[in-house]
Amino acid sequence: MENFEQLRTVKFYSGEVTPLEMHKVRVVQKLNLLPIEERKESIFGAGFNTFLLQNKDVYLDMLTDSGTNAMSDNQVAAMSVADDSYAGSASYTKLEKAISDVFNQKFFLPVHQGRAAEHIIAKSFCKPGTVVPMNYHFTTTKAHIEMMGSAVEEIYTDEALKTKSSFPFKGNMDINKLNRVIEKWGAENVAYIRFEAGTNLIGGQPFSMANLREVSAIAKTHGIMVLMDISLINENLYFIKVREEGYQNKPIKDILHEMLSYTDFSYFSGRKVSCTRGGGICTNNHDIYMKMRDWVPLYEGFLTYGGMSVREIEAMSVGLYETLDFNVISHSPTFIKYLVDSLDKRGIPVITPSGGLGCHLDAGQFLSHIPQTQYPAGALAAAMYICSGIRGMERGTISSVRDENGDDVLADVELLRLAFPRRVFTLSQIKYAEDRIQWLYDNRHLVGGLEWTEEPPVLRFFVGKLKPIGDWVEKLVAKFREDFGDSL
Ligand code: F0G
Repeated sequence: MENFEQLRTVKFYSGEVTPLEMHKVRVVQKLNLLPIEERKESIFGAGFNTFLLQNKDVYLDMLTDSGTNAMSDNQVAAMSVADDSYAGSASYTKLEKAISDVFNQKFFLPVHQGRAAEHIIAKSFCKPGTVVPMNYHFTTTKAHIEMMGSAVEEIYTDEALKTKSSFPFKGNMDINKLNRVIEKWGAENVAYIRFEAGTNLIGGQPFSMANLREVSAIAKTHGIMVLMDISLINENLYFIKVREEGYQNKPIKDILHEMLSYTDFSYFSGRKVSCTRGGGICTNNHDIYMKMRDWVPLYEGFLTYGGMSVREIEAMSVGLYETLDFNVISHSPTFIKYLVDSLDKRGIPVITPSGGLGCHLDAGQFLSHIPQTQYPAGALAAAMYICSGIRGMERGTISSVRDENGDDVLADVELLRLAFPRRVFTLSQIKYAEDRIQWLYDNRHLVGGLEWTEEPPVLRFFVGKLKPIGDWVEKLVAKFREDFGDSL
């Protein structure tokens, strides 16, 4: 265990800075790379929405890191000793112990995935006339809070939305904005303050311990609860350890416990943090626990499984302990840094500094000729798939909503997220992504916008369908053939 706590990198004799896998591959899945003409057909079939592609038609699935991470040998082994019982499962007792050891939290409510925790939290604490200030929203989080009639106020710092920056903690909250929100709404109407670790929608950017400590102190003086979304805690933890003064030599467990000591409760998507499925809500406060407890059997399942299979529960316990392993939590950020730094050096617009979760291309800059109402991030996601078979995710105006007049609420940033599922891809696959991004950037003038053909009213990005405006896809495919001959 002590080895994991050391901040150590392997130096190459050549001086090259290369991330190194600290694991070996023992189970593999065959991948397909379709010819570009078939990729073109697939994206038309999917309504230019990468969520609707079939995985068999995808080469590198960089849609998300949710439920797609590699499990360790110990996690897989744990699944075979699961104790199948509806109530009082021994697997669940192990999970409670892991929650206590790893997160230092006494009470736990299991749920089937992260958004189910958001549902139960919003149902228990949000109501009309209240507000939830947060560093940045996540799509499902915001939808659950607003469905309960509460408002969301984002209080990110000026650095957060700068796509090019060297600020190490773009996930921080702006303290002045926080004070203003509390003054405007009244402390009694602040349902809770929500900190999202590894702020998803602004590029997997972390917050600092100093900022968390300060926000927590303000919350305490006003009697406001602090909630932390710890779905992406692994990478936030890594960044505090490597980027924040005073934490380099602290054990990961101590950093994690300190982070959670500033919260009243927290929740996670096990699809991310523990490389499994499932999720849960943690707290040390019995009253907070009791306010939520009875919703779990109603919406999720009995209190000793919460909608998860016992096999997932076993793997989750092991996965949570593995978050204390520096080799585990540093894998994604170092691979992401490799790609981000390389693209940045080539002048390709990408969110900097590199964060956790994935490499985020700045589609607003990349395709600056496409207006936001024609969805540059969606167009870039489609073009990326067409030219490489790589599936990323639109994180821009398509992921937003319409206002009461039916106009698009334009996203603050137009991003194409290329997620890095933990310990899944090799360096040569990342180099392939790098190469195809360069090609696409050199041919960006060929890419055009998108328009809706089917637009669902809620969370439209999941299943909505679009089509290209004009014949840009044909032109892009023709240029690919010209440059790559009969290569895939
Ligand atoms: N919170 C954060 C920060 C997330 O990134 C997610 C999911 C959730 C909550 C919801 O968890 O999916 O288990 O219900 N993010 C996924 C993604 C969907 O692709 O970024 P869930």
